[in-house]
Amino acid sequence: MQRYDVAVIGAGPGGYVAAIRCAQLGLSTVCIDNMRDQNGVPSLGGVCLNVGCIPSKALLDSSEQYYRAKNHFAVHGIKIENLELDLDTMLSRKDNIVKTLTGGIATLFIKNKVAWLHGQGRLISNKQLEVVLEGEVTAVVAASNIIIATGSLPATQDDISIDGDRIVDSTGALAFNEVPRKLAVIGGGVIGLELGSVWSRLGAKVVVLNRGKQFLSRIEPSIAKEAYRLLQKQGLDIRLGASVKEIKTTKKQVAVIYKDAEGEQKIQVDRLLLATGRQPNTAGLNGEAVGLNVDDRGFIEVDDHCHTNLPGVYAVGDVVRGPMLAHKASEEGVSVAEQIAGQSGHVNYQTIPWVIYTSPEIAWVGKSSQQLKEEGIEFKEGVFPFKANGRAHAMNETDGMVKILSDAKYDRILGVHILGPHASEMIAEVVVAMEFNASAEDIARTVHAHPTLSEAMHEAALAIDKRTIHI
Ligand code: FAD
Ligand code: NAI
Repeated sequence: MQRYDVAVIGAGPGGYVAAIRCAQLGLSTVCIDNMRDQNGVPSLGGVCLNVGCIPSKALLDSSEQYYRAKNHFAVHGIKIENLELDLDTMLSRKDNIVKTLTGGIATLFIKNKVAWLHGQGRLISNKQLEVVLEGEVTAVVAASNIIIATGSLPATQDDISIDGDRIVDSTGALAFNEVPRKLAVIGGGVIGLELGSVWSRLGAKVVVLNRGKQFLSRIEPSIAKEAYRLLQKQGLDIRLGASVKEIKTTKKQVAVIYKDAEGEQKIQVDRLLLATGRQPNTAGLNGEAVGLNVDDRGFIEVDDHCHTNLPGVYAVGDVVRGPMLAHKASEEGVSVAEQIAGQSGHVNYQTIPWVIYTSPEIAWVGKSSQQLKEEGIEFKEGVFPFKANGRAHAMNETDGMVKILSDAKYDRILGVHILGPHASEMIAEVVVAMEFNASAEDIARTVHAHPTLSEAMHEAALAIDKRTIHI
């Protein structure tokens, strides 16, 4: 039997970060993970590095470069004749990035002296687990503490079977070997919009079917409205209130029959992406046998500090409540490692930023105006459009806006919502500000470099007291 202070199950951004932090704090640590790459080789990094954040962003970037070269370079005075798409190169670039980064985690494990076992982690008790590979127990591990970071899987639908060819989940949509002529996406959420954008930019006719009538219902309504308009303008055909009734597959085609406000509709496509959410992954963990509590949706139950009901057993990331985001998983991993080492690890769930990597990007932190109204909190708002920002003009990217919501009485920042170029980078300023309980006035009094997109943040803060300079 191998003995460690900490055993981490899962090497995604929750698990590998927890393992490294534990090792930094002097705890002997093993990380057990069952992920393999497309060639069957064990690969660290979980969903995020292998089939999630990283490969999707690689394709979003490549497809955006192609789209710009095709549609936007001319305005800069750059003419390209015979522009060609080399999809094989684009896909292998993505695969190489994944290989570099997943290999990087293996190097970090060596550097930090984290032991790594490939296989399925199966709980025997709250202090012991076994590693199972192809049905055989390959190791038994005793650990004073166990961190479960087994992540999530695509949600399935009873009547839609993923065949990995015509009908795919997000993993399949990262590796189409040709640009679909017509692609249907079921689910107009984050994956649907990001991967829908990739294939639309590369030339596919993309139809997004969303069951809900409200587009991006969780985000700031005015931002959602404008994003909807811009994405439709780019060619994404987003149909709301579309309830899928039946899928019929032939060798080359998929027929999607759905119902919307106008009645029954049918579209014929050559590929279908199912992107209707993700579910916690506890398969093979043996949690039930050791008395690990899960909620009615299958998430492992934890308190505010990621403690499960079993003493010494913690759970972090997508397998527990809260947003399914890599950075949330990692911060929970750090927090648990620090708690095990006797420190006071902590995650501030009020300041977790979200980004949707469409073009323009959508990023937000804190509350929306809708939430504030529902909670009866009085607020002021300041909005500044990128069309009045010099840098956005220089970049020829003037769509979108920054919106800041602050407390009506104390001016504390309650939420910030951005639709615009590099929103993913711009949001960091206000995440820090909110961590320090800043007021909008603090942002308004802070010098922002000129010309930068961040001046739109500055002006949105000025807009709260109706004192913008440039509109
Ligand atoms: P995971 O990354 O799911 O890792 C869990 C690991 O545990 C996996 O390797 C799994 O194989 C392994 N495992 C499971 N059970 C066992 C077991 N019993 N024994 C051993 N190993 C086991 N989030 C962002 O923040 N930004 C993005 O841009 C973003 N883009 C995404 C794009 C796509 C297409 C997808 C699908 C997701 C994206 N996400 C993004 C979400 C992000 O990937 C997840 O929030 C994140 O990976 C969760 O990390 P985790 O450590 O909880 O779990
Ligand atoms: P999602 O929850 O973002 O969106 C699912 C969408 O599908 C919703 O709009 C919902 O109304 C719709 N839907 C549900 N059932 C449906 C049905 N039967 N027919 C039609 N529409 C239906 O889930 P998604 O896009 O699968 O992503 C899962 C999670 O992965 C995200 O919530 C996020 O946590 C994470 N992720 C994060 C990314 C990022 O941070 N940029 C990128 C990709 C994924």
